[in-house]
Amino acid sequence: MIFDIITIFPEMFASVFSGGVVRRAVDKGLMEVRVHDLRDYTHDRHRQVDDRPFGGLEGMVFKPEPVFRAVEALRGSAPARVVLLSPQGRKLDPRLAEDLAGCPRVILLCGRYEGVDERIVESLIDEEISIGDYVLTGGEPAAVIVVDAVSRFVQGVVGREESVRHDSFAEGRLDFPQYTRPRDFRGMKVPQVLFSGDHARIGRWRLKKALEKTLARRPDLLDRILTPEEREILEEIRNERKEQ
Ligand code: ADE
Repeated sequence: MIFDIITIFPEMFASVFSGGVVRRAVDKGLMEVRVHDLRDYTHDRHRQVDDRPFGGLEGMVFKPEPVFRAVEALRGSAPARVVLLSPQGRKLDPRLAEDLAGCPRVILLCGRYEGVDERIVESLIDEEISIGDYVLTGGEPAAVIVVDAVSRFVQGVVGREESVRHDSFAEGRLDFPQYTRPRDFRGMKVPQVLFSGDHARIGRWRLKKALEKTLARRPDLLDRILTPEEREILEEIRNERKEQ
């Protein structure tokens, strides 16, 4: 899978992708992340990528010419999904990340300033993606997040153990708590059930903890079809709350 990132701040990406899981995936040849300077696709002396908006407003807007040139040059003849990072986009979630991981090539265009000329949105890009309901100063941090979130769904990038944990979120729950050594840290003890060796009991305890946390912090995630076990445990949690 290849990511082509188009940005006016290529230097922002150097350190983020120089370590961690994405770096490992690149080293293993599972992914490629290429960063392109939008200014390389300008033809004027000032390498101008933006201009004042028609109709009069403060700020600057990306001009269509360099962006069209960049995307057309990178796309070449191979099919690629062209994404604009912007707060107006579809919100990134595990389903979208998994879907992008299935594309052999994704071009990420990092928006800037007050936005981009609407003709870019209408005629060049396939979709807009947002990472959340807040406005960043540019699309660069969002592009990093998209690459990272998508990498976990690229075959071979993360081990089986981690994918199992991701499933828990994709299934619409927050994670259960995890513990490691020591068993007793400053008097804070690891729950006894985890030493029981009874995997069914541990599984049920984890599911209950995950549901308790989800109910407290993200009840919206539970507006879906629940499994019979989830329904039973939620009932149990509600009854315990009533008793308190
Ligand atoms: N650019 C500015 N804000 C953004 C956001 N929330 N998501 C994606 N790109 C952005």
